Amino acid sequence: MSSIVLGVTGASAQQLAERSLKLLLENNNVVHLILSKGAYNVWLAENDIKIPIDTEKQIKFWRDRFRTDKGTLICHRWNDVSASIASGSFKTKAMVIVPCTMGKIGRISNGIAEDLIERCADVHLKENRRLIISPRESPFNLIHLRNMTQLCEAGAQIIPCIPSWYSNPQSLDEMIDFMIVRLFDSLDYELKDINRWQ
Ligand SMILES: Cc1cc2nc3c(=O)[nH]c(=O)nc-3n(C[C@H](O)[C@H](O)[C@H](O)COP(=O)(O)O)c2cc1C
Repeated sequence: MSSIVLGVTGASAQQLAERSLKLLLENNNVVHLILSKGAYNVWLAENDIKIPIDTEKQIKFWRDRFRTDKGTLICHRWNDVSASIASGSFKTKAMVIVPCTMGKIGRISNGIAEDLIERCADVHLKENRRLIISPRESPFNLIHLRNMTQLCEAGAQIIPCIPSWYSNPQSLDEMIDFMIVRLFDSLDYELKDINRWQ
């Protein structure tokens, strides 16, 4: 089983993070999950759901929600910069941040590593490991665009979740799946049980 860090920040479209987590677990991956402080607020604002901050309670929350005991889930607090994954010595395959706020992009692109998501992203860049960032904002201002360029130059991959029409999606779920496939295909993750465009 390979280990992946999933960072979830306080941008709109938490459904993208939720679907990613579910599929990674159902496909028997080891997932280190970090919700930023902002992500908890967006879950409450957009979905009226209060996600438990306590890590053990949060694992139970996701397990109950997905009704699966597959894979391995480790939840981390956003401010736990002493977590194993905050060190370059701890091996991971990759990190994906979905959805990613402009604030996080600004801080990571400028080497600021205050919370665990920022620190992990910093580690993935310094260790030359895969870092995929899926930004969510519209429109982008010049600072956003420059920060994303800087991240790209530092080795991160910017993959926005942009819906497709050529796949003729029949539902929002199908549209979400198409976008998630694009994210994880680039890491060579074979996600089964997903609607895939042929
Ligand atoms: C309902 C809601 C939706 C938001 N959507 C976005 C968004 O799509 N993109 C963004 O950059 N910020 C968005 N924000 C603002 C961020 O949540 C805010 O800047 C926060 O401080 C980000 O913290 P984080 O980057 O640590 O998650 C949203 C805030 C709320 C309450």
